[in-house]
Amino acid sequence: MLKKSLKDAIQDRRSYYQIGDSSPISDEKIQSIIEFTVRHSPSAFNSQSARVVLLLGDNHLKIWGFVKDELKKISKSEEAFKASEEKINRSFLAGHGTLLFFEDQSVVKNLQAQFPSYKDNFPVWGEHSSAINQVLAWIALESEGLGASLQHYNLLIDKSVHQEWNINPEWKLVAQMPFGEIEGEPQEKSFEAIGNRVLVFK
Ligand SMILES: Cc1cc2nc3c(=O)[nH]c(=O)nc-3n(C[C@H](O)[C@H](O)[C@H](O)COP(=O)(O)O)c2cc1C
Repeated sequence: MLKKSLKDAIQDRRSYYQIGDSSPISDEKIQSIIEFTVRHSPSAFNSQSARVVLLLGDNHLKIWGFVKDELKKISKSEEAFKASEEKINRSFLAGHGTLLFFEDQSVVKNLQAQFPSYKDNFPVWGEHSSAINQVLAWIALESEGLGASLQHYNLLIDKSVHQEWNINPEWKLVAQMPFGEIEGEPQEKSFEAIGNRVLVFK
């Protein structure tokens, strides 16, 4: 599946904010990539609590319409809303599709009932599992020539998302990942000295 070495794919995964609505690969291929990354993502106790919804075509456009509707309600001024709207149109809505990442709270609750001594850990581990799943999808899409970014409009759009696509109420929305053909380079990125971040004791 990876068109690049793992090293290149990890390095080239970036936040792409200039994306277009075409795709170098078919929608079926995108679906199979996402099914693959969801299937093989690790999770606490192999609980497999991660859920993903792939939005394509009008469904992709709809989600960014919901974000704009909600932002309009809470923006301090028309000017502030216009700035947000432009960013959403250019960087997210302009793309080919959107992935919605969820965590199934019924799985978390079951684990809490089964293993009460880890009760407080399961919601945290669920978030970790979702994050792992997100980054695998991000890397896999990039390696096929699709740029993506990671967004968090959860609290604003939860209700609309559940209603529109009749999503199980136990599925908690965690993140959104708009993706599309890469139309511009990612922003410059600075790096902390690696010696401050990785310690080695031999
Ligand atoms: C947990 C997490 C939350 C993030 N939330 C957002 C977000 O809400 N919006 C956004 O545009 N980028 C978000 N990002 C992307 C980061 O800003 C980005 O990964 C970071 O600046 C490094 O740039 P790169 O992705 O190009 O390597 C998030 C990344 C992580 C890991």
